[in-house]
Amino acid sequence: MEGEEKAEFSASEVEYVSYGGEHHLPLIMNLVDQELSEPYSIFTYRYFVYLWPNLCFLAFHKGKCVGTVVCKMGDHRHTFRGYIAMLVVLNSYRGKGIATELVTRSIKVMMESGCEEVTLEAEVTNKGALALYGRLGFIRAKRLFRYYLNGVDAFRLKLLFPRPELNSTANPGWL
Ligand SMILES: CC(C)(COP(=O)(O)OP(=O)(O)OC[C@H]1O[C@@H](n2cnc3c(N)ncnc32)[C@H](O)[C@@H]1OP(=O)(O)O)[C@@H](O)C(=O)NCCC(=O)NCCS
Repeated sequence: MEGEEKAEFSASEVEYVSYGGEHHLPLIMNLVDQELSEPYSIFTYRYFVYLWPNLCFLAFHKGKCVGTVVCKMGDHRHTFRGYIAMLVVLNSYRGKGIATELVTRSIKVMMESGCEEVTLEAEVTNKGALALYGRLGFIRAKRLFRYYLNGVDAFRLKLLFPRPELNSTANPGWL
């Protein structure tokens, strides 16, 4: 929430865990409901975390859940691709690299699982998310007109993994 005081903490105090079962679900739902404009039903959350628990991570600070990422992967038009569905860090914990760490963990699992690319949508007005994903190497592939229920357009962002046989020394920076 706007105006919330920044939490005092060091990055080393933040613990990252992958989805560990039903007890994590309310923590994820609370965070996403608080911070994302799009409303999701419990069925949507369950779809993601039951099918791809290894692509879902939570960040904890002194026992409190302060960030989460929820993703999936699968076949899409002849490619095997990852999709980042939700990424949220509690307002007072932002700007310390927590989102970067969460999303990087998911992307690594996607790459190790054979994904050729990763996509997501972000509101065109969401400067923070666009900057974060831009730094990780995502490009703006498409603009989607009035994509969200609130009427805002989205950018479809895409990260293409380098093909090792074409460029064995390539390193996108987040590896
Ligand atoms: C977007 C969000 C997840 C970023 O979380 P975070 O933990 O603060 O992100 P990080 O600290 O890892 O930021 C990494 C980089 O992203 C960019 N960035 C993040 N937030 C930014 C902001 N508000 N303005 C400009 N750049 C920003 C910066 O380049 C930053 O690097 P720097 O701190 O070295 O400058 C967080 O602001 C959030 O939860 N927002 C509400 C939900 C949301 O919009 N989710 C994304 C949906 S697509």
